[in-house]
Amino acid sequence: MAETKKKALFICLGNICRSPIAEGVFQKTVNERNLGDQWEIDSAAIGGWHVGNPPDWRALDTMKNHNVPYNNTARQLVSQDFNHYDYIFGMDEANMRDLNKKAPKGSKAKLLLFGDFDPQGDRIIRDPYYDSDAKGFEKCYQQSVRCSQGFLDEVEKGNV
Ligand code: 4NP
Repeated sequence: MAETKKKALFICLGNICRSPIAEGVFQKTVNERNLGDQWEIDSAAIGGWHVGNPPDWRALDTMKNHNVPYNNTARQLVSQDFNHYDYIFGMDEANMRDLNKKAPKGSKAKLLLFGDFDPQGDRIIRDPYYDSDAKGFEKCYQQSVRCSQGFLDEVEKGNV
């Protein structure tokens, strides 16, 4: 059978806080739905500051606390991503502006705000990098759980 994997890429500014959590949670959710072989999943940064680094320790702690496996490192978004992936998710409005600016004309990926799939309507996944504690990371985790379920439900219904 021809390869028909759906492809999803999670984007944030640095790829060390929010998008790794979103990627890990989405992968876990897909696995729990027995759809692991149907999805290709990755994350990337708008900026290049942390390329090659693992996530912020608070993101890793948060994922560990919730049994979300993660061993990816940061990379920067490249223009080919816009034609490789079916869905590219931003975490906030600034991500969406950057994605829309960087997208080559006519490229295939749908550029989506991850929070638009939150059934509770909490649309923005706020940048917790400069926080003095890990609460924003836990909130990002909770939002990612709801958005992963919400998005996969919409895919299942053929709405996206
Ligand atoms: P993220 O958080 O976009 O959720 O990974 C940030 C990480 C690093 C920086 C900004 C945001 N930074 O400016 O280095």
